[in-house]
Parts: sequence; structure tokens; C-alpha cells
Amino acid sequence: MPSFDQKDFPMPFSVRKILPSAQSQLNILGGVTLALAAFAAWSLLQPLTWTSAVPLVFVGYAFLRIAYELTLNRENVPTLATTFAGRRKIANFLREDASARGKDPYRVIDLGSGRGELTRVIAKRIPQAKVVGIEFARIPCAQAALVQRWLGPKNLSYECRDFWPFDCSDIDAAVFYLNPSMARRVGEKLHRELKPGSVVISHTFPLGDEWTPLKIMDYRSPFKERAYIYRKD
Ligand SMILES: C[S@@+](CC[C@H](N)C(=O)[O-])C[C@H]1O[C@@H](n2cnc3c(N)ncnc32)[C@H](O)[C@@H]1O
Repeated sequence: MPSFDQKDFPMPFSVRKILPSAQSQLNILGGVTLALAAFAAWSLLQPLTWTSAVPLVFVGYAFLRIAYELTLNRENVPTLATTFAGRRKIANFLREDASARGKDPYRVIDLGSGRGELTRVIAKRIPQAKVVGIEFARIPCAQAALVQRWLGPKNLSYECRDFWPFDCSDIDAAVFYLNPSMARRVGEKLHRELKPGSVVISHTFPLGDEWTPLKIMDYRSPFKERAYIYRKD
């Protein structure tokens, strides 16, 4: 089981206030996984009907997701997605930025795109954008690429790789949802590489002192969340 630095465990809400440590959160996840597995096993023993199949599919998916986080995901950034409200707000901000700067194409990158939830919303809301999601965890990345192949949009693509060596000098906007120390390190990288005028949006965690926020966007979704928005000088 992976072990986490308490300060680097990015829950989208304050579970940390309720639970004593990051390890406890993982233990709870393990407990939930076992409960879901037990429910799935019990359901399989019942006569299968359409009404029992629907919750079973959801339970199976939740079980696989949690099992993945506890076993295969060895990074200290869980594959959590930004919430609906966060995605919408971030995409709307970028849409305004794209039209204000008259950029076509407007190049957006999601550093650590997970299963692609945020990238899909951005690409759909900004038709003139070229959105690239970079994700090194193979299963979520393959899932995102598959959904894109089936459902589009065409202005979205994924690269299953590490984002650290990726050259960001051609990017108009970078978004990410990482953890406190990675957000600061990515901030240093982007400060070196981005051209002036480019936008950086970090979900939940602020960048280091070399950046001054242009705006801090708060939203409820249903948890209290925020995104830090910066513009390169
Ligand atoms: C919290 S998820 C964010 C998902 C998505 N950006 C969103 O906002 O919905 C962070 C993702 O970053 C990925 N990640 C962490 N370090 C990475 C790296 N060096 N290169 C590529 N992906 C990375 C993790 O595997 C994880 O899926």
C-alpha cells in the first residue's frame, strides 16, 4: 500500500479535519472497497434483474476505481477529478481568455489529465482550442483516449507520458490539479518555459512566490473549492 505525506494528500474536501492521518483515509478507502466487494458478491448470488444490474454496475465501477487507487496508483497524486462546477468555471475563464487574446488555435494543456474529465469540458466549450491532456498513469490515460475516440471532441488529444520533460513554451494556458509541493514545482517549470501572457490555473493548490494570482476563483460543488489563476508577466 502506498504511503503519503499528510500535507501532500490532496482531498477535494476536508476529510483531513475529520480523520487523523492520510493513512487513515487509505484504510477507510480499503474498508469501503471491501464493503463494495461484499455487496457485489451478495448481489451476484441474487437472481439478476435489470433493476439489480444497474446498482451492480455502479458498485463494480466504484470498486475497480478504489482498488486501482490502492494498488496500481503508486504516485502521491490520486486520480481525482475536478468537480463539475470547477470544470465549468475553469473552462469559462479560459474561453474568455481565448477570445480576449484572439488566439486560434488556443493551446491548452492539462498536466496530469487523469481520466480526462476537465480536458473534455474545456475542449467542448472552446471550439478554437487545441487541448492536450498529459497523463502517465496508463489505465486512466487509456480510458480518456478511448472516450475521446468514441465521443470526441476532435480538438482534444492525450499523451500517455510524464509531463516533466514536456516543453510548455508553445502553450497559451496550462491547467492542473496536483498536490501542494508538485503545484509549486510545476509553477517553477512553467515560469521558466511559458511565454508572457500565458495563463496558469492550479486547482486547489497555490503556486510559489514567483507567481502573483490574477484571480482566486471560489466555488461550491458541493464542497468549498478554489482555483488559483495566474498570468505569466
Ligand atoms: C488529481 S488528478 C487530476 C485529473 C484532472 N487534471 C482533473 O483536474 O480532473 C492528477 C493526475 O496527475 C497525474 N500525474 C501526476 N504526476 C504526473 C506526471 N509527472 N506526469 C503525468 N501525469 C502525472 C496522476 O496520475 C493523476 O492522474
